Amino acid sequence: MTALTLDGVNTFYGRSHILFDLSLEAREGAVTCLLGRNGSGKTTTIRTIMGLTPPASGTIAWEGRRISGLRPWQIFRLGIKLVPQGRGIFPRLSVEENLRLAMVRAEIGDAGVELGKVWALFPILEERRRQPGATLSGGQLQMLAIARALLGRTRLILMDEPTEGLAPLVVQSIREALGRIRASGVTVLLAEQNVRLALEIGDQHHIIDNGRIRFSGPSEAIRSNEDVKTSYLGVSRR
Ligand SMILES: Nc1ncnc2c1ncn2[C@@H]1O[C@H](COP(=O)(O)OP(=O)(O)O)[C@@H](O)[C@H]1O
Ligand SMILES: [Mg+2]
Repeated sequence: MTALTLDGVNTFYGRSHILFDLSLEAREGAVTCLLGRNGSGKTTTIRTIMGLTPPASGTIAWEGRRISGLRPWQIFRLGIKLVPQGRGIFPRLSVEENLRLAMVRAEIGDAGVELGKVWALFPILEERRRQPGATLSGGQLQMLAIARALLGRTRLILMDEPTEGLAPLVVQSIREALGRIRASGVTVLLAEQNVRLALEIGDQHHIIDNGRIRFSGPSEAIRSNEDVKTSYLGVSRR
C-alpha cells in the first residue's frame, strides 16, 4: 500500500524555484530512497514533506489524507518524524537528557519504556547515557538523532543523509539499525549520497536532479541502467 504520495509538488526558497512538479511515492513498510547529487533537492523534499518549507503548489498525502498545508507539529503528531542532516543534537546535554527533552516535546508519558526501546536498538547509547552530546562520535550522534525520532509513535521516518561523514564500520551499524527499524514496521524515506548502501537496503528509489525526478524504480533497475548512474549519481562506467 502507498503510504506517502507527493503529487506535482513545487517548492520555493523565497523566489528561487527549487522543486519542480515533483511526484513520488513511498510504500508502507518499505525503504524508499531519494538519490541525487549535492544540491539536487533531497533536503528540500524532506523539509517540504515535514511542512518546514511548505509547497507552493501540488499535494502531499499520507495514508490518503492530505497533509500539505498542515503545520510541522501537526505532521509530527501523525507519526511522521525527521532525522535532520547534521543531526541537531544538543551538545551540552547528555544522551539521556537529549532523549528526555524530545519526550517532553512528543508528550510521552512513560519515559522508562521509551528509553528501554532506545537502549535495545542502540546499546552503545545506554553506555554513554550520561555523556554530553559534544563528546559523542559521529556515529553515536547519528544513532541518537535516529533514536530521538523513533520516540513515541513513529509511522514514517524521514532520514536525511544519515551516513554522511561516517567511517565504513559505523555506516554498517547504521545500516543494521535501518534494517531493524524497517522490520518494526516503520516506513522509511531515506535521502542518501551513498548509492551502494541505498541500492543494498532500499526497495524503491527516486533519483532527483535539479529539483526534478529523473528516474524511479527498484534497485535492480538502477544497477542495470548505466546512463542513469553516470548522469545523475556520479557513478563512473567500468
Ligand atoms: N535556505 C535556502 N535558501 C535558498 N536556497 C536554498 C536553501 N537551501 C537550499 N537551497 C538551494 O536549494 C537547492 C537544493 O538544495 P538541497 O535541497 O539542500 O539539496 P540536497 O539536499 O540534495 O543537497 C540547492 O540549489 C540549494 O542551493
Ligand atoms: Mg541535503
